[in-house]
Amino acid sequence: MRILINQDEKEIGHWTADYLIKKINDFSPTVEKPFVLGLPTGSSPIATYNELIRRNRIGDISFSHVITFNMDEYIGIPEDHPQSYHSFMHEKLFKHIDIPVENINILNGNADDLEKECLEYEKKILEYGGIDIFLGGIGMDGHIAFNEPGSSLTSRTRIKSLCYDTIQANSRFFENDAHRVPTTALTVGVGTIMDAREVLILAVGYKKARALKEVVEGSVNHMWPASMLQVHQKCILICDEPATMELQVKTVKYFKNIEHISTHGSHQ
Ligand code: GLP
Repeated sequence: MRILINQDEKEIGHWTADYLIKKINDFSPTVEKPFVLGLPTGSSPIATYNELIRRNRIGDISFSHVITFNMDEYIGIPEDHPQSYHSFMHEKLFKHIDIPVENINILNGNADDLEKECLEYEKKILEYGGIDIFLGGIGMDGHIAFNEPGSSLTSRTRIKSLCYDTIQANSRFFENDAHRVPTTALTVGVGTIMDAREVLILAVGYKKARALKEVVEGSVNHMWPASMLQVHQKCILICDEPATMELQVKTVKYFKNIEHISTHGSHQ
């Protein structure tokens, strides 16, 4: 795992957007060979989305041959509900960029047959040849997408019940009323994320410090599902200083030092 410690949310957004733009442009996607991008909701990716929008406007990047798969969606709230992940993605990213609507994939939390919906989502990802980069956030309890503590670390897209911590955390989007937060969701599995060729995880703020400690320094453990990323071949964790507050000083110094060496060259 590569860990990049940035100053603040804005710097995280710039770095991540830059990275994605370079990867997509280097790939030179076409209709026959599109770039497949996994996307999250939440507050963590907002700065990245804002920068992607700006760079799309000035012509640095086109999304016309990018296929997106979102991580998750609540079950049982209408697609046009302001807090559905459909609405979120439309408002925060899709309506501002040149992505064709048919390139966007988001799980349907109102499907008649939810299990079938999940199987078909997995199948569609495979039909596109898998996900090139999965961008994600991390929950305070170490969840990734909606893979709550105790999730199978090889899980696939499925129905999940949300745990108390997540319902409380997400109540900020539902007028601070935990009773309004849906209690179930559809989510890609930890295994689905692990299959992506690359994973980028964003962590902003002190509230993520405990999760980072477990995910970076703890063992691979289903109670901290994002810790599975320790065994991913290419995962980059992009965080700010406050999110590192529970890490050991030597861990922070180590990761800062290797980034410094790779930027400025070694002296050997
Ligand atoms: C939600 C989403 C996750 C997201 C997490 C963190 O529960 N399902 O995909 O990563 O919360 O959200 P935030 O970035 O707002 O802290």
